[in-house]
Amino acid sequence: MTPAVGQPVDRVDGRPKVTGSARFSAEIPLPGMAYAALVGAHIAAGRITSIDTGEAEAAEGVLAVLTHENTPPIAAQPPLLPSLAGTAAPGQTFFPLQDDVVHYAGQHIAVVVADTHERAQHAASLLHVRYAEEPSVTTLDQGRDLAHVPEAIFGGFMPGRMSRGDLRKGIDEADVRLDATFTYAANNHNPIEPPATTASWEGGELTLWDATQGVTSTQQTVAALLGLPVSRVRVVGHYTGGSFGGKAMTWHHPALAAIAARTVGRPVKLALTREQMFTSMGHREEQEQTIMLAATGDGRLTALRHHKLSPTSHFDEWAEPSLGVASQIYGCPHYEGEYRLFRANTMTPTFMRAPGEASGMFAMECAMDELAERLGMDPLELRLRNITATDPMTGDPWSSWGLEECYRRGAERFGWAGRDPRPRSRREGHWMIGTGMASAGYPVAQPLTPQRARARLYADGTVLVQAATPDFGTGVATVMTQVAADALGLPVERCRFENGDTALPQIAAAVGSAGAGMISAAVHTAATALRDALVARAVADAESPLHGADAGAVELRDGRMVLRGDPGTGESYAEMMHRQFLPDLEALGSWNPGSGANGHALMTFGAQFAEVAVDADLGIVRVRRMVGAFAPGRVLNPKTARSQLMGGMIWGLGQALLEANHMEARTGRWAASSLGDYLVAVNADAPDVDVELVEVEDTVVNPLGVKGVGEIGQVGAGAAIANAVHHATGRRVRKMPITIEDLL
Ligand code: MOS
Repeated sequence: MTPAVGQPVDRVDGRPKVTGSARFSAEIPLPGMAYAALVGAHIAAGRITSIDTGEAEAAEGVLAVLTHENTPPIAAQPPLLPSLAGTAAPGQTFFPLQDDVVHYAGQHIAVVVADTHERAQHAASLLHVRYAEEPSVTTLDQGRDLAHVPEAIFGGFMPGRMSRGDLRKGIDEADVRLDATFTYAANNHNPIEPPATTASWEGGELTLWDATQGVTSTQQTVAALLGLPVSRVRVVGHYTGGSFGGKAMTWHHPALAAIAARTVGRPVKLALTREQMFTSMGHREEQEQTIMLAATGDGRLTALRHHKLSPTSHFDEWAEPSLGVASQIYGCPHYEGEYRLFRANTMTPTFMRAPGEASGMFAMECAMDELAERLGMDPLELRLRNITATDPMTGDPWSSWGLEECYRRGAERFGWAGRDPRPRSRREGHWMIGTGMASAGYPVAQPLTPQRARARLYADGTVLVQAATPDFGTGVATVMTQVAADALGLPVERCRFENGDTALPQIAAAVGSAGAGMISAAVHTAATALRDALVARAVADAESPLHGADAGAVELRDGRMVLRGDPGTGESYAEMMHRQFLPDLEALGSWNPGSGANGHALMTFGAQFAEVAVDADLGIVRVRRMVGAFAPGRVLNPKTARSQLMGGMIWGLGQALLEANHMEARTGRWAASSLGDYLVAVNADAPDVDVELVEVEDTVVNPLGVKGVGEIGQVGAGAAIANAVHHATGRRVRKMPITIEDLL
């Protein structure tokens, strides 16, 4: 029997998604449904001096208008923790509609509820709000001198300052030194599905259908905010239409939907508009990173300094951890890293795919390219001289590595060897052609809570596996049928995965590329426990052909329990279950990563290569091809893994060349608030993307050795493109995105 894991199994949710039978959180029909519309503040800083709701309240079909004047106070504001922790995870520690203060433009200041969506939207336009406006700070230029070094960032999980060795010494030992500053536009999440929550109360019990990366984080957050026992809140999220970190935290709208539903005594649907997505679910912050590389003449890094400056909100200290991977991927002995934050009139920034790793490695890998040029060395050779089998921050060996193999296989597929390093050395008509490469790395995150799943075998020989996790497009529901199939010796067609509901065994929010690893660990543990229970019953059953056999010698194949290596022996599960009057048999699995990595450092590695063509007259950049080689541990399903990595690489292209939002400094409002002016890469931008999977064995991270593929595809992709742009044009553009103006 060929193992199911490792096969390119088609998505189990493909058919419901393309036929439309999949119900998303804004598509739940409930009797008596009412509809809520959010109203956002028009100023970035100040106070609401009056809010006249009369006209809105008198509009047809309006059931309620909630403002800070009549919204009940929240019970408690949970602390800001990453949702991977499995606890409450509000995106920011500010909850709106509690007082008259405006902290940022778009801040929710009212919720209008009506009997139809259109009436709610219309009435929302009838509010008359007066403000006392104050000057706002939103841009790097405004906040630069107000910055401080925080104690910690990222929900308290990372220090504000890090170091190793002695930076001064490293600089003194060097022959070459490079200083470079990189700037980054802010980015906004734009998954296809805008966030939405449908809320319904029955007695004191609340049910929410929520578009989320983690039903448990929605449950825990809303319970805390409303002062409800967690057991009274059920969150269902069968389908989530993309997320990329934007639905990793629980923003205000699920709790507001619940408050609105309680107020009007009817179920309430609250869907954000595309425009509201730009001010209601965090963003990747505008930032500036300054990097200093010092190296010996033969290309060994002796010192690395990496500083980052970025705005955070008035209530939380958040920066995406841009220094992480860049500080660990090379064995540079002397290091100093520092975050600087200033308080700005924005939301708390949040996770956005490859949060920090993509921006930090853009700076690092562009600087490495520049260093290679200074040293007259091939950029790939410079990397090879500096990679390290141990984490330079701790000295611990990587639980698995594979970086060299990624370089080798990526370079081979790309045709890197024999590259003429001279800028502007290739031309095709009016196109200048260039190639570039970069390293990729992404940490392997571990949840703090036990991850659980249930496996139930029916006497008809099919298995149902259950876990709370939603599938927001990653393919996790498909992959988990494969994991269960192998543990139970069944074909995947006989395995079903039920998920996306807090009524099922608890799984933390799938963030930080941790989903496949932690959920497969729970499912594998549950399915293995079920297998052991089956075998124990067979060997103890006097009527079983396996009676008295050593349980360790029994294996499961094709729905049968047989003596290892002898498929003719034993009996089917169905036979035994019928004889024992068992309609089904089930087991709960709980995987507790608690004990940690046993002296290992956890990281996924990869290598990126890109070829660009730059129009010599117009400055237009076309990415012609990209090759990425990644070593994500075990690959559960090469089709879904490749799809994730390809998506990440294309997003890297978007970051390098397209995605940008800017604050209008005078008003403190985002310039872009639609897909018309916030550009994401589309099919016409996407080149031929070649993804190479380098499997490495990892016995540390989790039972199946899965390191995850959700974000690493994006890391280094932008740098490979920027380096290719330099190779094509001779221009070093130290910013994200690189736009036409930069190349004219
Ligand atoms: Mo991912 S940006 O950690 O949801």
